Amino acid sequence: MAKIVQLISKNCGKIKPDSVTDYVNAGGYAGLKKAMEIGPAQIVEEVKKSKLMGRGGAGYPTGKKWEQGYVRKTVFEYVVCNGDEGEPGTYKDKLILSQNPLLLMEGMTIAAYIFGIKEGYIYVRGEYYGLKEMLNNAIKNAVEANYLGKNIMGTDFSFNIHVVWGAGAYVCGENTALLESIEGRSGRPRQKPPYLSQEGLYKKPTIFQNVETYSNIPYIVEHGGDEYASYGTECSGGTKLVCLSGNVINKGVYEVPFGTPIRELVYSLGGGVSNGRKLKFVQLGGSSGACFTEEKLDTPMCYKALKDNELKLGSGALLVVDDSNCVIDFLKTITGFFIHESCGKCTPCREGNTRIYEILDRFSKGRGKPEDIDDLYRLSNLMDITSFCGLGQAATTALKDCLKYMREEFDEHIEGKCRAGVCNLT
Ligand SMILES: Cc1cc2nc3c(=O)[nH]c(=O)nc-3n(C[C@H](O)[C@H](O)[C@H](O)COP(=O)(O)O)c2cc1C
Ligand code: SF4
Repeated sequence: MAKIVQLISKNCGKIKPDSVTDYVNAGGYAGLKKAMEIGPAQIVEEVKKSKLMGRGGAGYPTGKKWEQGYVRKTVFEYVVCNGDEGEPGTYKDKLILSQNPLLLMEGMTIAAYIFGIKEGYIYVRGEYYGLKEMLNNAIKNAVEANYLGKNIMGTDFSFNIHVVWGAGAYVCGENTALLESIEGRSGRPRQKPPYLSQEGLYKKPTIFQNVETYSNIPYIVEHGGDEYASYGTECSGGTKLVCLSGNVINKGVYEVPFGTPIRELVYSLGGGVSNGRKLKFVQLGGSSGACFTEEKLDTPMCYKALKDNELKLGSGALLVVDDSNCVIDFLKTITGFFIHESCGKCTPCREGNTRIYEILDRFSKGRGKPEDIDDLYRLSNLMDITSFCGLGQAATTALKDCLKYMREEFDEHIEGKCRAGVCNLT
């Protein structure tokens, strides 16, 4: 039976999101107060102990990143928050941004306090534009209450937060493309290295994390890294916001401890496959995430266990796909998304997605050939190895997994059969 543990989502829906009074009454800013008592070195130590991994997709240990900056005495200039949330099926950052943004801002403020940073930016997905007035009010109210702005809580620490709006490009979630976009250029990824801790926003060292990552910081500082870590597994500390979507009964965002098996997410929290249908496969981590069938459903949601099973958590989106769907049709949708979102900077991604789509389209019309499968493998491996950024590198994850676990459906299409009855095979 899957457990819900609300460390960061507990006040969502219960307080007025832009009200500092509500936030404080619900326990808000206890983390920042504690941070100022224990000081930068201890904060970094607690974050390290918490085993918090970045919640934006890559899963890099946050404590390790901050410790490196702290030990090297890096002069960070900016705190940037990634709220682009363009991964299909992912809407967990929206929960925080829309229902408890002061928690995120408190987390960013603690990060700024460690390094004496004065300026912070939250980059928000363009489609969330309806949150603009509320987010601006939350900042204004926090400044008035002296939790942001000059001499925060009577100290000599000053920190401002600005909100910047995306314009609907998925690639702007990639950290360097996001910075290009804040700087006013079109969102295209930069060469790495230099890494953001060396040259980030406006070429200055930058602390860069996802909305959910920052939102965990107040709890970790207030309660200690060990307590936070105790909710998770040996390697993955704390909780994760997961988003259930697709052919599942109870869609929504759930906060669950690391270690929860994927099966429990689908059948216990999700209530199972909708309309009494049979599960075909799930996709974990959004459109760039892995697809897998029943056999891997008992894998615990934990970075190591997932890696051991050749899976990745990604953003925490879990798409449930039932047997009324056709694998080829599904992959056409995914590939169409990546064609649309490719920034066009490099050839493998710009051309590769289109070539793959053409092949899949032939399959869906009953014109696929056995040698097309070799081409699908060749193209996806090539894109994986040679694409400039993570978008092109991960665009064919679903394709490769579907070929691995559901190859027979490709063969059936060559023979003129679509078992789901979705494709119009002529
Ligand atoms: C194409 C692409 C899209 C991405 N989209 C997001 C996003 O919407 N939100 C996010 O936090 N990270 C996204 N990332 C990952 C970021 O580049 C970065 O790793 C992350 O924001 C770092 O923060 P974290 O360590 O707290 O996860 C994306 C990466 C790629 C390659
Ligand atoms: S992989 Fe795609 S999104 Fe990334 S730089 Fe190349 S064309 Fe742009």
